[in-house]
Amino acid sequence: MAEADRKNRELSLFQAILARRSVRTYESRVLDITTIQTLLEAAVRAPTAMHEEPWAFVVVQDKPALKRLSDDAKPMFIERLLHADPPSPRVVSTFNHPDFNIFHDAGTLIIIGTKMSGAFVEADCWLAAENLMLAACAMGLGSCVVGSSLSALNTPTVKASLGIPSEFRAIAPIVVGVPRGRSPATSRKKPQVLAWMLPNVGIRDVQPS
Ligand SMILES: Cc1cc2nc3c(=O)[nH]c(=O)nc-3n(C[C@H](O)[C@H](O)[C@H](O)COP(=O)(O)O)c2cc1C
Repeated sequence: MAEADRKNRELSLFQAILARRSVRTYESRVLDITTIQTLLEAAVRAPTAMHEEPWAFVVVQDKPALKRLSDDAKPMFIERLLHADPPSPRVVSTFNHPDFNIFHDAGTLIIIGTKMSGAFVEADCWLAAENLMLAACAMGLGSCVVGSSLSALNTPTVKASLGIPSEFRAIAPIVVGVPRGRSPATSRKKPQVLAWMLPNVGIRDVQPS
């Protein structure tokens, strides 16, 4: 879709919330600086505990660097999975496949993280991440969190190779790009409401239909 067409089709916030999905196939076109800046502006409008704005961003748009990073991250992610619950054989075989790129061949990785410590810095970064992904969706772009890259991103070697300051901690790595094809949003369970206290009635067993 042409840039102008995409701009004319921007979604309302609620439409974007309903339409957003993790996109795993991208066109090869690389996003321009203005688009990235718009996404970062959306990210930093997120709520932030004690107005600390602890987030900082790293943008990687070098495809060979992303491929190298993917290759570094895959064995580290499998190792991490093996230390938690036993991973499904399907996941292990996907991550072991030499052609599998954890960044789904997207041309842009935006890493949201922080140089600060504090009780809420992670929450702040994830809220910024959701703002960024909803803005991307509203602009006709696709996005996907790539949590499987986190272990690699937080190693000194990878930080040095990407020019990331050593005190930066990656929290929310997100790929963004022009989606190849259209896919419907994934389904969700109904919200599970465990308690709902109403005035004069007390606690009622209320489930939305
Ligand atoms: C913390 C976190 C880590 C994730 N890591 C990955 C990942 O490494 N690779 C990937 O393809 N998707 C990843 N996802 C995307 C989820 O798989 C996806 O959000 C979920 O399946 C629901 O699908 P939807 O986003 O399309 O609604 C991650 C999502 C979150 C919130």
